[in-house]
Amino acid sequence: MDKPFWEETYKDDTVSTFGTEPNTTVPEFEHLYEKTWNILEVGCGEGKNPLYLSSHGFLNIDAFDLSENAVAKLNRIADKRKLKINAWVQDLRQFQFEKQYDLIISFGTLHFVEKAEWKALLAKAKENTDVGGIHIIQIFTNALPASPDIASFAIGLSDDNEIKTLYKDWNILQFKSYTFEDEHPRVPKHFHAANKMVWSYMLDTENSANPDDDKKVTISLWKDIADYYCPSSDDILEVGRYTSNSDDE
Ligand SMILES: C[S@@+](CC[C@H](N)C(=O)[O-])C[C@H]1O[C@@H](n2cnc3c(N)ncnc32)[C@H](O)[C@@H]1O
Repeated sequence: MDKPFWEETYKDDTVSTFGTEPNTTVPEFEHLYEKTWNILEVGCGEGKNPLYLSSHGFLNIDAFDLSENAVAKLNRIADKRKLKINAWVQDLRQFQFEKQYDLIISFGTLHFVEKAEWKALLAKAKENTDVGGIHIIQIFTNALPASPDIASFAIGLSDDNEIKTLYKDWNILQFKSYTFEDEHPRVPKHFHAANKMVWSYMLDTENSANPDDDKKVTISLWKDIADYYCPSSDDILEVGRYTSNSDDE
C-alpha cells in the first residue's frame, strides 16, 4: 500500500472518511474559546473541526493537511456552505508558524511523522500559543500495535503518557488514555490506542487574576478534576482502556 486509504475517499464527495461531526472534545471545551481566537488545525483531513467551528461563528480558522485531496474537499464543502476557512496543503514537518494561535487542534495525525518531528512541531506550537490558549491533541500510542490500515504509515506512535512530558509547564484540562474501535468506508473494523489531551497555557497565578469569573472557575474546576483523576498509573490506564470504547476517535 503506497498511499493511505483516505486518499481515495478524500476524492469522493459522496462519502465522509472520518465522519462529519467534530471530534467531541472540540465542542466539549467550546465555552472556553473566544470567537476571535486564532485557531489552527494540524492534519485537518476533510475538515470536520474547522467546518464546525466556522459554522459556530469562529472567525479566524487556519487548517492544513499534507493531502491535496483533503484540502480540496474541505474547500469544496466550505464553499458550498459559505463558510470561511483558510486551508492549505502543508507537511507539518516543514511548518513555520507565522502568527500566534489561541487554539491548536490535532487529531489522529501526529503519529504519521517520526517522533522527533511531532515533538518539534508541538514545541513550536507551544511557543506560538498566546497565554490563555489551549491545545487539543490526540495521538495514537503503541499500547496496541498499529492497525493494518495504517501500519506502514504510523512511524511515530507515541508511548503511553509520553505527550504529557512535553506539557509539564502548562495546565492540564483533560487527559485520556484509551483504546477504541474504528471503521472507515472501504476499511474493515479495527482498534487503535490513543492519548487525548487538552492543555491550557494558563498558569494558576494567571488564572487567579482572570477577570472573567466564569472562565476562572471553569479552568480551576477542570484542573482539579484532571489532577484528581489523571495521575499516571497502571490503574488509571486500565480505567481509560475500559471506558474508552464509548469514546470518539
Ligand atoms: C487519520 S487522518 C485524520 C484527519 C482529521 N484530523 C480527522 O480527524 O478527520 C490523518 C490525516 O493526517 C494527514 N497527515 C499525515 N501526515 C501528515 C503530515 N506530515 N503533515 C500534515 N498532515 C499529515 C493525512 O493526510 C490525513 O488527512
